Amino acid sequence: MCGIIGYIGEKKVIPILINGLKRLEYRGYDSSGIGYLMKKKVIVNKAAGKISNLEKLISDYDEDTFIGIGHTRWSTHGAPTNENAHPHFDGGARIALVHNGIVENYRTLKTKLKDLGYQFTSETDSEVIVHLISYFYEKEKSLVEAVRLALHEIEGTYGICVVSSLEQDKIIAARKGSPLIVGIGENEHFVASDAPAILEYTNNVVFLEDGDVAEIYKDHFNLKSLANQQIKREVEVLDLDISTIEKGGFPHFMLKEIFEQPESIQNSIRGRIVLSAGNVKLGGLEHVLDDLINSKRLILTACGTSWHAALVGEYMLEQYAEIPVEVEYASEFRYRNPILNRNDIVVAISQSGETADTLAAIRESKKRNATVLGVCNVVGSSIARESQAGVYIHAGPEIGVASTKAFTSQLAVLALLTVLIGRRKNLSFGYGEKICQELLNLPKKISQILQKQNEIEELAQQFYQAPNFLYLGRGYNFPVALEGALKLKEISYIHAEGYPAAEMKHGPIALVDENMPIVFIATKDSTYEKILSNIEEVKARKGKVIAIASEDDNSIDSIVDHVIKVPNTLEMLSPILTIIPLQLLAYHIAVKKGLNVDQPRNLAKSVTVE
Ligand code: G6P
Repeated sequence: MCGIIGYIGEKKVIPILINGLKRLEYRGYDSSGIGYLMKKKVIVNKAAGKISNLEKLISDYDEDTFIGIGHTRWSTHGAPTNENAHPHFDGGARIALVHNGIVENYRTLKTKLKDLGYQFTSETDSEVIVHLISYFYEKEKSLVEAVRLALHEIEGTYGICVVSSLEQDKIIAARKGSPLIVGIGENEHFVASDAPAILEYTNNVVFLEDGDVAEIYKDHFNLKSLANQQIKREVEVLDLDISTIEKGGFPHFMLKEIFEQPESIQNSIRGRIVLSAGNVKLGGLEHVLDDLINSKRLILTACGTSWHAALVGEYMLEQYAEIPVEVEYASEFRYRNPILNRNDIVVAISQSGETADTLAAIRESKKRNATVLGVCNVVGSSIARESQAGVYIHAGPEIGVASTKAFTSQLAVLALLTVLIGRRKNLSFGYGEKICQELLNLPKKISQILQKQNEIEELAQQFYQAPNFLYLGRGYNFPVALEGALKLKEISYIHAEGYPAAEMKHGPIALVDENMPIVFIATKDSTYEKILSNIEEVKARKGKVIAIASEDDNSIDSIVDHVIKVPNTLEMLSPILTIIPLQLLAYHIAVKKGLNVDQPRNLAKSVTVE
């Protein structure tokens, strides 16, 4: 988390930095700041809170300044105050630094630097880096050398950008564990944590790798390793359009992304279905297909919403690809002693491809000689690049902090993976074809659900003041209950729990009274009758039941208090439909509560700290 932007060129820098920060605000919004070179000095403006607070501090956007850096913060060390906002200065205000990551040994370094007389003005771990750079600059008289030597002292992760009045023609950028790209324009260069920050200026980028140190000038840049070896990296052309990262008339990115799902699902499956063979083609997995077929176990590892997608994947893969699957929180997997056998394959699922825990889990798996596959959304992201093979979900940029379209696209891709493996085992042509056909039918069915927005908004009106919610589902729709509850928690701050419906009687049923709204995912599938019994149990205790039910289910209306109907589909694909009303319910409840849907408190979209 935290977003970084940098620019050096012929354009006035302040609007570019502010614009870039706004595009990166999804990475954190506790504070923001910019630092630019003007009249041979580095000027820093920074403010706690949203970027709008920073904007209020800027009196003139038209200043003659052409080199600068910016930062939007998600706090780790130190409260979200002005002092802790980046950029951080060295003692003489000659060097300014922005940092994304965590300096794990900052306490030791801070003590040493304080003993040497360096004075700290913030509580952040990041500030030690700029003092270290200043320390080495005194010896080396070269900014890039000073940065390199400082980074040798750092344990932990970083993406950094540095500007200095001592060397006014360059930005130094470096990465280890936190993403950074260099954007290449005409007589100008950019640095950013993520492509959306620079997309309106250039599509030509170089992805920095861990250990890269870039010395960036207006008209060229020089890339070396921490060990001072020259490095060459390919320039990649991003296939992204600026319109994909704008709100396009929607009041929030989250709503736009919910409504994009017919299209994002289509993009996830496009060109991958071979209906005539009842099969699929996933180019990124071709060279590991035999390993997949022969593997004895798949370990799906992820965090947050992606972890919920993994749970659905477990049901799909075990049922139709006949392969044992374990689903692991990446953060837990890494810190125990995961037993990995030679024929195990680890599949990391991540929208951003940058989640620190997931990245750490795949590194641990690789150390233990497991084959690692990535299922990512962001092209060129760290997880995508560090996996031996993988599949992009192609959901397009997801900006709203609460994940929506990435979830449904992850499910679509896991369904494709199931067919791919299943067809090499016992999945028949007929059933393979049926799954493929139904995947193709999903966009239309999602559109039908989206048309029920008004109905769902009315429900939100009735329930937005409820202090608690329960979400219950069984089988494939148990993870949907978890995801529905997570969506509500994330953006409306209402306490919500997701549970397997049958487990309700082992605890959560004690919470049920006439004030408790309970969302049941009760589509007509293999556990339908059981779910009906669970609904009766809740009704007997006067709970208020909202059911997500099948469109041809006429009997459920008289049992529950509210019902939202979704089109029929195959049971394994039903989560792709049943989650949609729950996304809309969470969205409208949060809007009714007057909350910032796209930037919920304390959260960040891309969690690049462990
Ligand atoms: C954060 C986001 C969630 C996301 C999770 C995992 O918590 O707010 O929306 O599900 O990280 O992110 P990933 O990018 O790895 O899917």
